Amino acid sequence: MQQANLVNLPENYHIRLWIYHIVTWPQLSYVVEDSKGRIIGYVLAKIEEESEDKTADIHGHINSISVLRGYRRLGLAKKLMLLSQEAMASVYKAQYVSLHVRETNKAAIGLYRDTLGFEVADVEKGYYADGEDAYMMRLNLESGP
Ligand code: ACO
Repeated sequence: MQQANLVNLPENYHIRLWIYHIVTWPQLSYVVEDSKGRIIGYVLAKIEEESEDKTADIHGHINSISVLRGYRRLGLAKKLMLLSQEAMASVYKAQYVSLHVRETNKAAIGLYRDTLGFEVADVEKGYYADGEDAYMMRLNLESGP
């Protein structure tokens, strides 16, 4: 997963963070392998509990998702996102899922907004190390009363 992340994105993380997520929320992160067992895509996710809020606002957060270039546009990222979202709702009763995305990342915004139904909840100025703004996007996971 870390190798795919290094190839696909400028936002990279120490191996301890990968292991922490997988040990703490093992139901939320997934990989796609090719026929030889090589990882060609992943989603890394977590649960955030905002304890100051009395309504116990539990929500999932997508830290990172990517698919290797030769395997894009096959529906793999959509499948990874749906697996993680379903586990957030069923295992942790998460009310919504959030993520940050570069405002110029057309492919990822297309995936989140057009395919999965996320909406932009906020713009975080200078969120990324190079100064680019992030869209904070959210999707409600509750199916209603
Ligand atoms: N342009 C416009 N829309 C796109 C594109 C694109 N290049 N790629 C995907 N989409 C949208 C489309 O709506 C697509 O549905 P369609 O093919 O029926 O039109 C939908 O997303 C689903 O596409 P998938 O095939 O599931 O997506 P894919 O497996 O290609 O992965 C991803 C998409 C993860 C964004 C990939 O392009 C990638 O790895 N990019 C580099 C890494 C990256 O930007 N990751 C996201 C960073 S933000 C974060 O990690 C929280």
